[in-house]
Amino acid sequence: MKVFDSIKDLQQYLADAKWENKTIGLVPTMGALHKGHESLVRRSAKENDECVVSVFVNPTQFNDKNDLITYPRTVEKDCELLEAAGCTVAFIPSEKEMYPKPDTRVFKLGAVAEVMEGPRRPGHFNGVAQIVSKLFDIVKPDNAYFGEKDFQQIAVIRQMVKLLNLPVNIVACPIVRESDGLALSSRNTRLTEEQRKKAPVIAQTLRESVTFAAHKSVKEVIDYVINTINSVPDMEVEYYEIVDGYSMQPIQHWSETAYPVGCITVYCGKVRLIDNIAYGK
Ligand code: PAF
Repeated sequence: MKVFDSIKDLQQYLADAKWENKTIGLVPTMGALHKGHESLVRRSAKENDECVVSVFVNPTQFNDKNDLITYPRTVEKDCELLEAAGCTVAFIPSEKEMYPKPDTRVFKLGAVAEVMEGPRRPGHFNGVAQIVSKLFDIVKPDNAYFGEKDFQQIAVIRQMVKLLNLPVNIVACPIVRESDGLALSSRNTRLTEEQRKKAPVIAQTLRESVTFAAHKSVKEVIDYVINTINSVPDMEVEYYEIVDGYSMQPIQHWSETAYPVGCITVYCGKVRLIDNIAYGK
């Protein structure tokens, strides 16, 4: 595995690969890698000649500065995981390398970015668009891989790709879960032992709700999920919305979409966890 911290060196290496007609897969990450990332890397390695993984904690997407400061950083361990998973190129730039000057670009991402995470994390999706567009411009990947845990993020990135007419195929990959259902997340390491025991109630409640959704209204399903999770001490739902899985717009009736997806954010103590589930209608 090659490791680069310089854009110029990375581009030189990739220019040779492109000259040889090799396909390039990109997995953008913020490090603190776990089995969820590993599944993206394995898939990218299988589907492309070069598997590039970026590790960069992007400051412009953190609306909460404390979250940025405390975000887990485990670069050495990350490199071991990447090598074992088939990554051929790790790109680990400094903040100065990625942002020699402040990025002042404002993306008009439209309705997909204006619901759920959008208003609750002001500037977050713009920051994601800034860094992902930079990475796409530097790497020029054929395929880019993102996890469905950040379901709305994928819709936002697809929108950005459309806006900028970028020639990259966005590949959405399924959530990887612990055996008790908890969606893997770098933030899970911040849970106390007690909180970690409670957190699987999120995925379990979502799964349960799928089993009876066919006989209930959208509102009844939403109320069930929120009330069940809120009844657990130290757990508080920030929002639960059932949306059209393409436009991200909330639905009131199942008939409004062929692809309903429930998206949830829950505070487990101070740790903000997200998850989602598709209702097979
Ligand atoms: O999902 C993430 O880890 C980040 O938002 C991403 C896509 C790597 C951009 O920094």
